[in-house]
Amino acid sequence: MSDPVMSDSPPSSVPQILKSVRIAGTGSYLPERILTNHDLERMVETSDEWIASRTGIRERRVAADGELTSHMAAKAAEKALEQAGLAAEDVDLIIVATITPDTITPATACYVQQHIGATRSVAFDVSAACSGFLYALEIARHSIGAGAFRNALIIGAEKLSAFVNWTDRNTCVLFGDGAGAAVLLPSENGHGKVLSSHLGTDGAQAELLNIPGGGAACPITSENVDQKLATLAMQGREVFKHAVNAMRRAAETSIEKAGLTIADIDLVIPHQANLRIIDAISDRLGVTKEQVFVNLEKYGNTSAAAVAIALDEANRTGAVKAGDRILLVAFGAGLTWASAVIEW
Ligand code: UT7
Repeated sequence: MSDPVMSDSPPSSVPQILKSVRIAGTGSYLPERILTNHDLERMVETSDEWIASRTGIRERRVAADGELTSHMAAKAAEKALEQAGLAAEDVDLIIVATITPDTITPATACYVQQHIGATRSVAFDVSAACSGFLYALEIARHSIGAGAFRNALIIGAEKLSAFVNWTDRNTCVLFGDGAGAAVLLPSENGHGKVLSSHLGTDGAQAELLNIPGGGAACPITSENVDQKLATLAMQGREVFKHAVNAMRRAAETSIEKAGLTIADIDLVIPHQANLRIIDAISDRLGVTKEQVFVNLEKYGNTSAAAVAIALDEANRTGAVKAGDRILLVAFGAGLTWASAVIEW
């Protein structure tokens, strides 16, 4: 199979951003309810052994009834703001990356603004699936760098449990709910400096991973409601191959843009979809297992939230230390991919 077409983010001829930007705080939130592989054995024809060996996932979190993407996003955001020492009323920009918005309109970011009281902020969503948090990082850092905003709160948040077909073993074992957030501030100094980033999209592969119903292309009607069209559908094997190729190339591009080599990277924080994908990328990049942050055994694939949650866990558990260089890399529906290098 050929590699995905690389439609790269701006080449080096694009003017440099004006200011450097750093991650000044991170936060995450996971709902309390745990759904284990053994729980899933009672719901569909599957086994803990299959799920763990094919994906690495052991359990995932499921939001409570009435607990929405915006609620989880707000809880993660409040922790990130606290760590950054930024008051909600001083937030200029909120970007929520999600494919599971509370409503089609308005944006989930508007509800987050309301929940946290960030009354002065501009707020909108980005839809780039599992790459969404890094898309938000790219938009926010250039917006701050160009002087349009003084700071930004970027959030990846998902209530995937609301869009999973719980009778389809091919997909329902994979996904989980949660949220992660980061606060961006302009800075020449201090930890968390974003050194480089890179985005890519291949819309020709849009059908490989999607939610076919519920949009204007296929509104849910009383006639088709039983077909579960508004749930995640994926051609897993094809997505797997694209993920490995695109994430490796995205990783190499950001490292090169930062003027570094893989030997300069202390920690890799990849999208948490499948341990076999993570292992394949680690092998191709030439990093050891110890250099790769993995938490998917606890949370499954939380799409746009995954890299954000992992970054917060790495930050708060001391897995990443001041001066370390971190590579973030993600891949998802679209197809989309994204990467960034950060000096902690
Ligand atoms: O987050 C966005 C990016 N997403 C990804 O990166 C996901 C990429 N894809 C994957 O991670 C993997 O393709 C999956 C985990 C989704 C599937 O693993 P796989 O090794 O590619 O399995 P497969 O789809 O080729 O299925 C192998 C067999 C099939 O049975 P037959 O046809 O060989 O008899 C499936 O029906 O495994 C069967 N199977 C299951 N068996 C037990 C599929 N799902 C299950 C299950 N339990 N839950």
